[in-house]
Amino acid sequence: MKEKVDALRTKFQADLQAVSDKAGLEELRLSFMSKKGAIQDLMKELSQIPNDQKKDAGQLINMFKQEVAKHFDERKKELDALEEKRLIESSESYDESMPTESPVGSYHPITLIQRELEDIFKSMGFDVEDYNEIVDDYNCFEALNIPKFHPARDMQDTYYLSTNNQLLKSHTSAAQNTIMRKYGDKLKKNGRPIRAVFPGRCFRNEAIDSCHDNTFFQMEGVMIDENISISNLIYFMKTMLSEVFEKDVTVRLRPGFFPFVEPGFELDIQCLICGGDGCPSCKGSGWLELCPCGMIHPNVLKHGGINTEEDPFKYTGFAFGLGLTRLAMMKYGVKDIRIFNEGDINALSQFESK
Ligand code: DAH
Repeated sequence: MKEKVDALRTKFQADLQAVSDKAGLEELRLSFMSKKGAIQDLMKELSQIPNDQKKDAGQLINMFKQEVAKHFDERKKELDALEEKRLIESSESYDESMPTESPVGSYHPITLIQRELEDIFKSMGFDVEDYNEIVDDYNCFEALNIPKFHPARDMQDTYYLSTNNQLLKSHTSAAQNTIMRKYGDKLKKNGRPIRAVFPGRCFRNEAIDSCHDNTFFQMEGVMIDENISISNLIYFMKTMLSEVFEKDVTVRLRPGFFPFVEPGFELDIQCLICGGDGCPSCKGSGWLELCPCGMIHPNVLKHGGINTEEDPFKYTGFAFGLGLTRLAMMKYGVKDIRIFNEGDINALSQFESK
């Protein structure tokens, strides 16, 4: 049997080298490996071999079979690579009838609104900052006056990483501490007020429906200096929103609770559709809730290194957390929040910058 296997191996090696395309390789594979192939013929011959030699002979054939299968695979890969190379180098892969102008994409509605807001804030002297999506517990909660086990954490359940106590940020407020530390020196040494906005993607463990998604966008803003008051807050918000909606908007503040501001507010704008009379868009109230905000809590300023123990009220500031996703829905009349993350080009390409 050994001689027979050796002879077949020699033939196989020669045949394999001679094969130059995949069709030829398949033909060769069938002539060796199929039910009517050469290896099966060897198997049949086993019955004529004396019993005490059967085991060794069977093993020999099986090993040969495995060897042949391995060589086929290798040769197939070689031929595939050759084929690909030939195709790339030949003109077959080049379609002259293809239109030269491929369709260009469009900006995502969140990008549009974000850039518009950035321009407005830049014109008012604000810096635009970028920030991480993965943050730690300190920045997302502790530095914002939300200690461990504080009930305010319940409203911001998010996604936790299994390492290093990290999480996906549940709000852009998570960047406040970093911004204060970045610009604090210039404020204290040069008297340059901190004015910064920081847009970003936020995550929450939400049940998803047309108004809630687990991924959404906010734009946070802070202004810190000596003598900053609620009037400054109202002025900046009103100016910014009038620009966004391209008309003079009327705003009002209602009390709102957020541990990182004191006092905290919900800022509403008068409904732009009915002008305050009440309509389905504003659910008959005449007002639309738009932007939570408030005067930055002294503890948060202390965490950010802005005020010291000796002079804990030297600097004051306001902060706001604008829902970019919500604003985009209002501005573009989007009824279902899910389109922002679904990546449906038809749905997303309808929006245009003004
Ligand atoms: N971070 C808050 C949230 O996502 C929103 C917020 C409220 C931001 C009040 C602020 C603020 O800056 O002053 O629910």
